[in-house]
Amino acid sequence: MKSANRGRGHESSSAECWAAEKLQEGKIWPAPEGARRAKAFEIYRFDPDRHEGPRIDTYHVDLDECGPMVLDALFFIKNRIDSTLVFRRSCGEGVCGSCSMNIDGTNTIACTKPISDIKGAVRIYPLPHLPVIKDLVPDMTDFFAQYASIEPWLKTKSPTPEKEWRQSPEERHQLDGLYECILCACCTTGCPSYWWNGTRFLGPATLLHAHRWILDSRDEATGERRARL
Ligand code: SF4
Ligand code: FES
Repeated sequence: MKSANRGRGHESSSAECWAAEKLQEGKIWPAPEGARRAKAFEIYRFDPDRHEGPRIDTYHVDLDECGPMVLDALFFIKNRIDSTLVFRRSCGEGVCGSCSMNIDGTNTIACTKPISDIKGAVRIYPLPHLPVIKDLVPDMTDFFAQYASIEPWLKTKSPTPEKEWRQSPEERHQLDGLYECILCACCTTGCPSYWWNGTRFLGPATLLHAHRWILDSRDEATGERRARL
């Protein structure tokens, strides 16, 4: 995990320096009393205010008392075992992208990842190759700045129509597979080219959105968008 949390070429903050320190010994939280189906969750913990390296804490969650998804287990831990655990989430149903993290070695969103998919202990880390703010919360500033740089909105020069900008069903279908992205950053932070050139390469998610606006039949800034890329 040491290398996975390196800054990407911009100045390192003191939090990043501590996040790159060697692992500390983690705490082990025993299974709740009376638990019949305890499952271990090994979770990356980092608190910049402690001025020490990260650690992996092990929690035991009673699956009989917990919902089916990894996000449910994180809530179980936060509400019933250790309230200091920090993670992002919003919608709880796979549409906001805020609960993205590395689970069992794969970048994914915790609210739609079934615990039952994972054999043995569930290992949870923040998204790789981003500075860590705290525990499972990475700093997404650069990711969203890169997204904003492609100006992800409809740009037109023609007079605004009285009602909507019209599009045929065929033109609309061209956007299938592009407009659905929820900006979770799982692809971008799992991309080796982005790890090594993240300050110059926009990464797969932002490029997908750039492509989405270039393909949009209503948009009238194609040349400008291509030139900027
Ligand atoms: S394209 Fe990338 S950022 Fe968008 S939803 Fe898929 S994995 Fe997440
Ligand atoms: S909480 Fe919104 S995608 Fe998981």
